[in-house]
Amino acid sequence: MNIGIDALACATSHYCLPLADMAEALDVPVGKYHVGLGQEHMSIPALDEDAVTLGAQAGARLLAATGTEGIRTVIFATESGVDQSKSAGVFLHALLGLPRHVRTVEMKEACYGGTAALQSALGIVARHPKEKVLVIAADIARYAAGGAGEPTQGAGAVAFLVSAEPRLLNIPAVSGVYTADINDFWRPNDSSTPLVDGHLSMDAYMDALTGAYDDYLAQGGIPAAQMARFVHHQPFGKMARKAHARLMAHTGDPRGDEVIESGLAYGRQIGNSYTAALYIGILSLLGTDPADLTDTPIGLFSYGSGAVAEFFTGIPVAGYRERLRETGADAEGVAAMLAAREPIDFPTYRVLHGALRTDSADFSTPPQTTAPFRFAGVSSGVRQYEARA
Ligand code: HMG
Repeated sequence: MNIGIDALACATSHYCLPLADMAEALDVPVGKYHVGLGQEHMSIPALDEDAVTLGAQAGARLLAATGTEGIRTVIFATESGVDQSKSAGVFLHALLGLPRHVRTVEMKEACYGGTAALQSALGIVARHPKEKVLVIAADIARYAAGGAGEPTQGAGAVAFLVSAEPRLLNIPAVSGVYTADINDFWRPNDSSTPLVDGHLSMDAYMDALTGAYDDYLAQGGIPAAQMARFVHHQPFGKMARKAHARLMAHTGDPRGDEVIESGLAYGRQIGNSYTAALYIGILSLLGTDPADLTDTPIGLFSYGSGAVAEFFTGIPVAGYRERLRETGADAEGVAAMLAAREPIDFPTYRVLHGALRTDSADFSTPPQTTAPFRFAGVSSGVRQYEARA
């Protein structure tokens, strides 16, 4: 039995900031962002958007195409959680009108959470082949204003259905895993932005890549040289390029950026979306690569600071491009989604950045987003969400 991703949809925030504006405002050569980091725009959430509304938007796009039949589990992966106790998935369950007979949880390990959710979903389907699992990965990458991480912010969400005999991507069972306790990036409970040792995080990422790949081979995986393309977690494009060069040196495979290029296109415009970033990279590859990738193994690398990583493969199923179109996640659909964002200038972005509220006192958020779901504020300590009619 094949198990994998049957359909995949994505969403991003209402606003975006061109990094050229940030470069000008901070008096940084724009080449540092465009070439040095490999980024052009970053998605910026409106005050009435959060991980729940972004995830619900992606989920609604997915379910409009697939329906809800067979779904008995929702796994919401995020490191932008809105409550220490209640799963963000439960808010989303209500917003999407999912049936009662569904179990719903939240999963966390930095950016690796999306892959942890995928692996759990694959296990559930292996045990209950008639069931489907809805996975949501949604995040807002928000760093301290003025810090080195500021140009690597972003916001995005994916929703995907894991099932038997998937119509998008088969996920073979073999995978390589890796954990190392390292303080490269973390977000304490009293902070809305992470503490980061940026250069340590880049080294930790690359060590985790070769470590996870070696375990993948030891588990019986195929060599990298037999993989047609690669998608590596992308906090910014240059990180994936550096990591890929490291993997190629490690494996003796001479191929360079040409086997990762098409997977970087969407992330360059969205920025880091943490748990969703690898899956937005997969959409970018499947939607924009000119080659027919049907039945060819794609190397996939997921990294979450802290750190946990996994190397595995995905194999596109015949008709994958048509399947993307059904959820609006083909190249045209994603281009339209990106073009629909409202560009803002640097001062407006900084005001939004400073206005985020994470406390539980009662407040209302001004209507800003035109997305189908919005966060309306807090009333009696309870987060309020609204769906547009
Ligand atoms: P920095 O230290 O300000 O930048 O911030 P830099 O000085 O290292 O320069 C960056 C690159 O720009 C360099 O390229 C420069 O040469 C180049 P490199 O030499 O490395 O190839 N450059 C230029 N290029 C062209 N024209 C110019 C120019 N000037 C400079 N004029 C840093 C970089 C990554 C530290 C910062 O952005 C940061 O802290 N980011 C956040 C942390 C991060 O993203 N880490 C990545 C690995 S960890 C990870 O992926 C997990 C994560 O997603 C979180 C999670 O798991 O939840 C982050």
